[in-house]
Amino acid sequence: MRKLGSLFAVLRGLCRWFSVLVMLFIVSGCNAAPSVLDPRGPAAGEIRWLSWVLIGMGLVVYVGVCGFLVMGLLRGHQDRRQRADHTEAEYPEDAKRGHGIVVWGGIVMPAVVLLIIAGLTFNTLMALSARSDAAVTIDVIGHQWWWEVKYPEYDIITANEIHIPVGQPVRINLTAAGVVHSFWVPQLHGKLDMIPGHTNTFQLQADTAGEYRGICAEFCGIQHARMLFLVIAQPPDEFTQWLETHSQPAAEPVDTSAQQGRNIFLSSTCAQCHAIAGTEAEGRLGPDLTHFASRREIAAGTLANNRGNLAGWIIGPQELKPGNLMPATDLSGADLQALLDYLATLK
Ligand code: CUA
Repeated sequence: MRKLGSLFAVLRGLCRWFSVLVMLFIVSGCNAAPSVLDPRGPAAGEIRWLSWVLIGMGLVVYVGVCGFLVMGLLRGHQDRRQRADHTEAEYPEDAKRGHGIVVWGGIVMPAVVLLIIAGLTFNTLMALSARSDAAVTIDVIGHQWWWEVKYPEYDIITANEIHIPVGQPVRINLTAAGVVHSFWVPQLHGKLDMIPGHTNTFQLQADTAGEYRGICAEFCGIQHARMLFLVIAQPPDEFTQWLETHSQPAAEPVDTSAQQGRNIFLSSTCAQCHAIAGTEAEGRLGPDLTHFASRREIAAGTLANNRGNLAGWIIGPQELKPGNLMPATDLSGADLQALLDYLATLK
């Protein structure tokens, strides 16, 4: 009786923890994290369908196994009381039935379930690898820890932000410099690895205009978690306008402070790592800054792109994202303000 009491106490404890887990699971749906179950493109739609089918099949198998487990426990309890002192040899038909359950439940059923899952998965993979005429080709190169983005047909180089026309497929060529990364925009497409010396190609399409969070899905070093990007799907005419603006070199600054800022940029270490089309700055170690001011974020999604964050980033990049390649820049207050004025003109 005491044993039964302590068993119930353990069960009560387990139930409490289980309800906490269920709560956490439900509450996790409240934040704005991009979800594969909230697709905004045809590829992500295929993936959602497969996800629900797999979750459903898993649930059926789980409930079935739990049912057999409870039946087994109840029967075992009864049998022990009725058949104490007897051996299996005295109940040959029971042993035979047991073997049957092992063959059907342990070999045939799992094989059928796995075959169905493999078939559905291949079917989804085929659908994802289908190709149609792409509106534009975009090369994305993974760096530690940012994304270089090129539109070779338009001579555009940018970073951490990929603009695409809504409702049209675009071709994405993925590669990496240094280490392996993985390109993932959960609401638009599955993950695809970015491998140094190799190009992986796929088609990306968004059916709704908007901003979609992209993340690196392969551990690539200490700042793997701060390697984010945005896919911005725009109406085709807006996208054409974006291509037009971004294929132009940077505008000449007119303001005196901005002009002074440009001189600081070109004479300091900035220009050794960053390029600005239309100036002598041709560094390729860090992101291209030609139209930097038009980007939403800095340091690959680490911070919003505003004057305060940018000042902090220039002065102390190692405090904000330790281990990244950018060294601290030692500037007087006035020089920093001038540099910020110049960077703000790079629209
Ligand atoms: Cu790049 Cu993880």
